[in-house]
Amino acid sequence: LSLREFTRQLPKAELHLHIEGTLEPDLIFKLAQRNQITLPYPDQASLQAAYQFTDLQSFLDLYYAGAGVLIHEQDFFDMSWAYFLRAQADGIVHTEIMFDPQTHTARGVAMETVFAGIARAARQARSELGISSYLILSFLRHLSEADAFETLKAALPLREQYADLWVAIGLDSSEKGNPPAKFEKVYAHGRELGFRLVAHAGEEGPASYVRDALQLLNVERIDHGVRSQDDPALMQYLIDHAIPLTVCPLSNIKLKVFDSLDQHNLKHLLDRGLNVCVNSDDPAYFGGYLLDNYMQTAQALGLQEADLRTLAANSLRASFLPKEKQQFWL
Ligand code: HPA
Ligand code: ZN
Repeated sequence: LSLREFTRQLPKAELHLHIEGTLEPDLIFKLAQRNQITLPYPDQASLQAAYQFTDLQSFLDLYYAGAGVLIHEQDFFDMSWAYFLRAQADGIVHTEIMFDPQTHTARGVAMETVFAGIARAARQARSELGISSYLILSFLRHLSEADAFETLKAALPLREQYADLWVAIGLDSSEKGNPPAKFEKVYAHGRELGFRLVAHAGEEGPASYVRDALQLLNVERIDHGVRSQDDPALMQYLIDHAIPLTVCPLSNIKLKVFDSLDQHNLKHLLDRGLNVCVNSDDPAYFGGYLLDNYMQTAQALGLQEADLRTLAANSLRASFLPKEKQQFWL
């Protein structure tokens, strides 16, 4: 058994995945044509040639532009279904998918359209592929807290209809200059409503944002969190409370959070006893889906079967699945 096949066969959850970040260039062109949208790139190759990022913002600019081809329910379905097929090929048994409604509602797409397309694919993945999923409605942190409240308000009427899927709230987009404190009230409201809470923190932003996400927003899981290493007391807190960090190695290289994969601190965090797992973030933009993230990281950092086993088990234990469902896979 090759290490890749060994890892493929490990039951794994993916907990940090933006569905808009799974939109592959060929589907962007197909949807642009279907929806009669003119793209600023003549062909797929020239679009892909633009995937040369210098930081988070340079990626986000392209990511939001790409998502502009999503208009109809079928578009959201097609994008999501393509991800579920990739997930199945990589041995993913459960996935918690972030989506950015504001990216779509700001263009006049109805909240219901976004939910309906993603949910139809998720339910079909459950019945046909045996992959379970939850949805994480994520606020764009470069927009105001009032805008986040509006978004939550627009989505709440759909809560019952999608209660099997929509269980959590998240926070993504431009981190620097948009600290967790900006969203304290909307997170408090989400908590009162019974949502599980996650937030991106400590990707480009400082370790203090990880601290604030935990203390001010009350999140139970941190997306990225790799900059926590700069704060020894925070590191100890993360260890003591087994706070999950959803680390995304290929993303961190593409967005220059680390210079190269062999400089990545995943192995260090794992050896210190942090509750880390591996994720793909925006695989259509960052050059690999989940299994590629595991394998390229294993290669660069010398991860052995025992490490890979721990990372896969961590992903299931850090998921929002009820304990008995986690146990089924562990
Ligand atoms: N960070 C912040 N926002 C994002 C990301 C990310 O890695 N991917 C999609 N939106
Ligand atoms: Zn992310």
